[in-house]
Amino acid sequence: QSFRITLLPGDGIGPEIMAVTVDVMNQIGSQLDLSFDFQEALMGGAAIDETGSPLPEATLETCKQSDAVLLAAIGGYKWDTLPRHQRPETGLLALRAGLELFANLRPATILPQLVDASSLKREVVEGVDIMVVRELTGGIYFGEPKGIFQSETGEKRGVSTMAYTESEIDRIGRVAFETAQKRQGRLCSVDKANVLEVSQLWRDLITALAADYPDVELSHLYVDNAAMQLVRWPKQFDTIVTGNLFGDILSDAAAMLTGSIGMLPSASLGADGPGVFEPVHGSAPDIAGQDKANPLAQVLSAAMMLRYGLDQPAAADKIEAAVNTVLDQGYRTGDIMAEGMTPVGCKAMGDAILEALA
Ligand code: NAI
Ligand code: MG
Repeated sequence: QSFRITLLPGDGIGPEIMAVTVDVMNQIGSQLDLSFDFQEALMGGAAIDETGSPLPEATLETCKQSDAVLLAAIGGYKWDTLPRHQRPETGLLALRAGLELFANLRPATILPQLVDASSLKREVVEGVDIMVVRELTGGIYFGEPKGIFQSETGEKRGVSTMAYTESEIDRIGRVAFETAQKRQGRLCSVDKANVLEVSQLWRDLITALAADYPDVELSHLYVDNAAMQLVRWPKQFDTIVTGNLFGDILSDAAAMLTGSIGMLPSASLGADGPGVFEPVHGSAPDIAGQDKANPLAQVLSAAMMLRYGLDQPAAADKIEAAVNTVLDQGYRTGDIMAEGMTPVGCKAMGDAILEALA
């Protein structure tokens, strides 16, 4: 089987971690008889320098023609002085909009070898493996009316509107149930249905959807309680589904449980077209070009691409197992270094993964 993959290495450490990931994918491909047709395209600061735009039309077109998009990270000091609407980050928003990516999947998995990186107690975080499914294109960030208006009393009045339509809830709900099916089969829907009408509709529709997924166990939590439970006993969660605002907050909180930004992948999915798979971290300009970057979040993003974008779970399992192996062997980049471990750079970490796969 053959897949067309668009690579967006972007800026900073992006090209370094992408190079490692492409080698890993090629090796997996040759083992499992999958072939990857990689097309590299410009995005972010690199694209601004060449074309003036952070997401050139040609890049979006290449992405649309592919089966999945693997993105590294964009941005850096060089472009920090540009006005906000011209900065590399606007390319990310344009990419999400252009590919109609409405579901954002963010795992917070605590690998046994990195338990001590978390700021929480060992017994609380050991074995945590959560996936937050966040709605990405609706809710209070986009609902109308929005704006700062003049009220009748002459005061200014800031307005944002939390709104979801049935079809918006239905499509994110389906992604969430299908994600739970690929995991432990437990889905917790998070809302504020005791106060918000939009959440009442959300809860009713998610509850109705459960009939289509009899193998998934559904529960509901109010968002305030969910935040509390996430910190108190995160192991109780498997898959969480929630709206844009609650998901923004909860996915960052869940990520912090792990304590290692260089380890966290993410996925953004649309209805039929290609998804975008990228690490949660940024372009780390402070260590760019020094062979210091941790490539594991990028490599794990490729695993998410294989699992959630290309439906190749066996290949994803192999990558995740190899990451586990190199950590067991004691290899650590600077960001996850601990006493008694073997320090390696980005390239050497990549070589260790290739060896673990062989
Ligand atoms: P950052 O995630 O790039 O870096 C934060 C800290 O973590 C730095 O000390 C960095 O060296 C370290 N770090 C991050 N990833 C690492 C890795 N793989 N291995 C080892 N260390 C790693 O966030 P920061 O500093 O806030 O932003 C830097 C640039 O990245 C900015 O231009 C920002 O706009 C952009 N950015 C881009 C994102 C994206 O492309 N999705 C997301 C977040 C930030
Ligand atoms: Mg956030």
